[in-house]
Amino acid sequence: MAKSAIFSLWLNISLYLGILGLHVSHAQLVPALYIFGDSTADVGTNHYLPDSKARADFLYNGIDFPHSKPTGRFSNGYNTIDWIAQFMGFDQSPPPYLSFSGSNISQFLIRTVPTKGVNFASGGSGILNCTGQKQWGRVISFGEQVQQFSIVRSNISELLGGSAVANFSKSLFIISVGSNDIFEHFAANTSNCTGTAGRDYITTLISNYETHLRNLFELGARRFGIVSVGAIGCCPIQRNASETGDCLDIMNVDAQLFYTALRGLLSKLSSECKGFLYALGDAYKMSKNIIDHPHKSVFTELKKACCGKGKWNAQSPCRPDSKLCGDRTTHLFWDQFHPTATASSLAAYGLYTGPQPLLVPMNFVELALLP
Ligand SMILES: *[C@@H]1O[C@H](CO)[C@@H](O)[C@H](O)[C@H]1NC(C)=O
Ligand SMILES: *[C@@H]1O[C@H](CO)[C@@H](O)[C@H](O)[C@H]1NC(C)=O
Ligand SMILES: *[C@@H]1O[C@H](CO)[C@@H](O)[C@H](O)[C@H]1NC(C)=O
Ligand SMILES: *[C@@H]1O[C@H](CO)[C@@H](O)[C@H](O)[C@H]1NC(C)=O
Ligand SMILES: *[C@@H]1O[C@H](CO)[C@@H](O)[C@H](O)[C@H]1NC(C)=O
Ligand SMILES: *[C@@H]1O[C@H](CO)[C@@H](O)[C@H](O)[C@H]1NC(C)=O
Ligand SMILES: *[C@@H]1O[C@H](CO)[C@@H](O)[C@H](O)[C@H]1NC(C)=O
Repeated sequence: MAKSAIFSLWLNISLYLGILGLHVSHAQLVPALYIFGDSTADVGTNHYLPDSKARADFLYNGIDFPHSKPTGRFSNGYNTIDWIAQFMGFDQSPPPYLSFSGSNISQFLIRTVPTKGVNFASGGSGILNCTGQKQWGRVISFGEQVQQFSIVRSNISELLGGSAVANFSKSLFIISVGSNDIFEHFAANTSNCTGTAGRDYITTLISNYETHLRNLFELGARRFGIVSVGAIGCCPIQRNASETGDCLDIMNVDAQLFYTALRGLLSKLSSECKGFLYALGDAYKMSKNIIDHPHKSVFTELKKACCGKGKWNAQSPCRPDSKLCGDRTTHLFWDQFHPTATASSLAAYGLYTGPQPLLVPMNFVELALLP
């Protein structure tokens, strides 16, 4: 058995025995976390965008969150970022940038940013500025998220001075983005964002990703924890779209092409930019391992969404009038697109401490603990 398969087996057993989910009580491994990306990382950003239709700030989302509270997370409970934050010694993801305004802005800048960090991720968004804008009304693209970070940086620098900004270099910058750009590409005849110009759109995505990473590096980011695109061809909405209920192979092929190109980009940046450190998680392999070896996992339902309607429970988003599955801990998927909180905890633990080649050139905890 490959090393990565043994690891995922071990992970599942750990989860089954309840080793995961024990509260982590060690001190914070890094000064703060700065989070960028899409709905896989969003903890409520879009709740503050009145024009956005990409939202999850209503039940049954959040049903397993403390006090069964919908927070804008696209999950029944904590998402992958929350779990990573917990393994790193935080209580959950840092709060969304947009949740601060007016009277609490100074609390945000003086207390929250330096000790917890900020979450800029916005559901429905992508690497390209145009991704999601037409479909969802309003989302914050990765580029705009970087711009928001630069505002925070200049405010912190002005208020607290050089040492607070210097802490950015020890903090972890976690990025989970790309799925929506690929989804949009396959809806290109209606969207015209990635263009219909053939398969080399992956090159365009990576070149835009490069710009964003270079901008973050310029702003003082040094430690990048990066999550690639999962097996998105296997999410319930894509199974619904295929005649046979199988995974949509072409999307999975592109998720793998994206990973390979991203890996190349990161290796290039680390040789060109002195001090650029990273850990890249292969989300495709991690999710596909589970889907292909169901008997080795804690999940008994790997195809249907837990919350939704119709075929595969995937014909509508999760809403208060949806059909909800009986046991949320045995479903891999929460809704049309997103993993359950249980699946997210597995993904997070994999990113945190998984072996090569699932994580290259190191995992997130090794990245955090580098001198
Ligand atoms: C900041 O204040 C606004 C009201 O001005 C409130 O809606 C929001 O929840 C507060 N954010 C946090 C993180 O406390
Ligand atoms: C994308 O948006 C960012 C931030 O709003 C902007 O700085 C950048 O120029 C835009 N890029 C393109 C290619 O339009
Ligand atoms: C933060 O920085 C921006 C851009 O430099 C500035 O416009 C804004 O007034 C600053 N806000 C605070 C609260 O310092
Ligand atoms: C920088 O981070 C260290 C370690 O987390 C912390 O003790 C220190 O207070 C931080 N400095 C500032 C200015 O926030
Ligand atoms: C998209 O448009 C191209 C060119 O107009 C066409 O060849 C292709 O069949 C269309 N694809 C779909 C899924 O409609
Ligand atoms: C797609 O966008 C390009 C450039 O923005 C434009 O020239 C072209 O007409 C658009 N195509 C469609 C089908 O909307
Ligand atoms: C599910 O598939 C059917 C056709 O089998 C299609 O009409 C419907 O739009 C699909 N639903 C979603 C949400 O993609």
